[in-house]
Amino acid sequence: MKLQSRHLLGLEGMSKEELTLILDTAVSFREILDRPIKKVPPLQGKTVVNLFFESSTRTRISFELAERRLSADVVSFATAASSVGKGETLKDTARNIEAMKIDMVVIRHSAPGAAHFLSRVVDANVINAGDGAHEHPTQGLLDMFTLRETFGTLEGLRVCLVGDITHSRVARSNIYGLRTMGAEVTVCGPQTLIPHDIERLGVRVYHRLEDIIPHVDVFNVLRIQLERQKSGLFPSLREYHRFFGLTKERIDRAGKPITIMHPGPINRDVELSADLADGEHSVILQQVTNGVAIRMAVLYLLGASN
Ligand code: CP
Repeated sequence: MKLQSRHLLGLEGMSKEELTLILDTAVSFREILDRPIKKVPPLQGKTVVNLFFESSTRTRISFELAERRLSADVVSFATAASSVGKGETLKDTARNIEAMKIDMVVIRHSAPGAAHFLSRVVDANVINAGDGAHEHPTQGLLDMFTLRETFGTLEGLRVCLVGDITHSRVARSNIYGLRTMGAEVTVCGPQTLIPHDIERLGVRVYHRLEDIIPHVDVFNVLRIQLERQKSGLFPSLREYHRFFGLTKERIDRAGKPITIMHPGPINRDVELSADLADGEHSVILQQVTNGVAIRMAVLYLLGASN
């Protein structure tokens, strides 16, 4: 069994078998992360370039660690210190870097479709590390890995994504991946932050947390993008927290444990209370650890196809 594509651009259209292959491969890499020596040789002699045109903490560090743990040579690119500021196009930047003989590119960019575009203009394998509000496939995969680790299966699992669905690449990758794996996905948030046609992706929509709390196993809480407040999509952070903030008090009313996830960075006490973020049912730091294993699996499966 192999992945169908030489690139990882999104989870939309990937089969259950392909997603399972990545999740199963990550299990072996997750074990390596607990060893005293965490380095293995599969990408020895390969060069990976990380092109981050947008800010990132978790994803960039996680990819760099994954690449180094697979023994790749790693080059990381910071927009501020590059020729992009001098007006160079994405295509020219990428083709010039590729002329230095690289094998794989990891790209984060504010434009939806940037990774797809890059995959058409370079020969290297391209991995999407987040393209605008479109997809963040490795985040979707690490979320699924964490849920499979916690519950044993994704089949029939009831997952609710809470918050700004419209602007969230994490939401889209989770919806595509989880639905393919047989989970039941719902979304909950203000009308202004949920696309009107989201139901065509096979999810149910709720606008009140109280209506969905009794029917979920997992809340994946999305970051409220503070920059959106200026555009009037919700009146104030205080009001958002009152209606859509997940708090221990709210969850306790369910009378059963609900697993709490967040892709980070968290706005504490806005979308998620600090006691829930740090509580016994939070798997937020597990998600971060598993991110390295998932990225090792993706790099390994794509790098092996060269
Ligand atoms: N989850 C995530 O993509 O975080 P960063 O923006 O810090 O990479």
